[in-house]
Amino acid sequence: MSVLIAPSILSADFAKLGEEVAAAERGGADLIHVDVMDGHFVPNITIGPLIVRALKRVTRLPLDVHLMITEPDRYIEPFREAGASMISVHVEVLPHLHRTVQAIKALGAKAGVVVNPSTPVSALGEVAGDVDFVLVMSVNPGFGGQTFIPRSESKVREARALLDRAGNHQAGVEIDGGIDLTTAPRVVAAGASILVAGSAIFHAPDPERATRDLKAAAEGALRASSPAAR
Ligand code: DX5
Ligand code: ZN
Repeated sequence: MSVLIAPSILSADFAKLGEEVAAAERGGADLIHVDVMDGHFVPNITIGPLIVRALKRVTRLPLDVHLMITEPDRYIEPFREAGASMISVHVEVLPHLHRTVQAIKALGAKAGVVVNPSTPVSALGEVAGDVDFVLVMSVNPGFGGQTFIPRSESKVREARALLDRAGNHQAGVEIDGGIDLTTAPRVVAAGASILVAGSAIFHAPDPERATRDLKAAAEGALRASSPAAR
């Protein structure tokens, strides 16, 4: 078992995106997390497949595309074609979540399902055996730099248990929102294996070093936590 660090470019300087991503990559980032927002599901508007395609040219790291949009089914293929390796969709907007998960996998990408802070992990019960990862939102989606919601720690535990009960031991639990040197060890001990971090990396004076420090903190917590806690 390992912990992956996924810097979120939402907090990066978009005027020098290539350099920002390169710094995170030098610091040991495992993925690049891309936040797609449509101004409907969340109040903010961010980026589309064009930027994913541009990122694909400047990094070897897999692109982890988090769709915070009301109609994800319409955009899975364009994002996959643009270079997304992982695509996650919110359970809150998908009455046919099982079909969407299968559609993502059929395109050869890893399929993730996301729960907002107010959505119970149990909403994912019927797809727990199908997904490649579960993403627990530890802030309300829409903006970087928000405070970690403490209850998320036990939701990570619940998500890990749900996947294990479904026999889906290889699927990971990702966590997104308010992850920094203080919260990272706590969520890793709870069973998180993919840590998204935006402001803790790109608002730091040295994003390369911030990535390295976060990874070290996460790996330290993984070594310290007992197998039973994972
Ligand atoms: C929030 C996004 C996050 C965001 C996290 O809606 O999904 O990925 O970039 O930012 P921090 O790490 O600053 O909370
Ligand atoms: Zn995100």
